[in-house]
Amino acid sequence: MRDHLSFKPARDVAPEAIVAFWLANDISISRTDTPDALREAVHANPELFLVAIDEDDAIAGTVWGNFDGRRGFVVHLAVRRDLRGRGLGRELMDRVEARFRAMGVFRIHLFVERTNLDVIDYYRERGFEIRDDLVLMSKTFD
Ligand SMILES: CC(C)(COP(=O)(O)OP(=O)(O)OC[C@H]1O[C@@H](n2cnc3c(N)ncnc32)[C@H](O)[C@@H]1OP(=O)(O)O)[C@@H](O)C(=O)NCCC(=O)NCCS
Repeated sequence: MRDHLSFKPARDVAPEAIVAFWLANDISISRTDTPDALREAVHANPELFLVAIDEDDAIAGTVWGNFDGRRGFVVHLAVRRDLRGRGLGRELMDRVEARFRAMGVFRIHLFVERTNLDVIDYYRERGFEIRDDLVLMSKTFD
């Protein structure tokens, strides 16, 4: 399958198509995941926000890495439903992790929703660990 896919920075893909892909492929959308917001966000870490494109020019998968100057974060890893279980998720994560390493980032974080606990084993196999020493706290502005 890999032979028929190309990998592009998200800034080279229509943001409307990316948001539609997430909605159709089990990614929880926040109010910041709008096409307008993406148009800005794709420039922050262009080499970390990747989109896999199939031979029909349709989106096959995404991974969105961010670097805040200290740690790396990964969100919105998603593979199109009909392409799952064939190594594309691994390929996307390999690519974004390689990029983080090249940037000198030594630790990356990600969030898993409690409605999606199955995916924890997937990340464990990649070397991620659950942090029992931390609790996530968030504050939402109006
Ligand atoms: C999670 C996801 C990205 C994995 O992508 P994928 O392309 O199907 O994964 P891969 O084919 O690279 O899988 C690699 C390995 O992980 C295993 N695996 C895949 N999903 C798994 C899961 N949910 N739990 C445990 N193992 C899993 C595969 O069996 C495979 O193992 P193998 O190589 O021994 O056969 C995909 O299932 C997805 O898009 N899910 C919906 C969105 C989502 O939940 N994203 C995570 C947000 S935190």
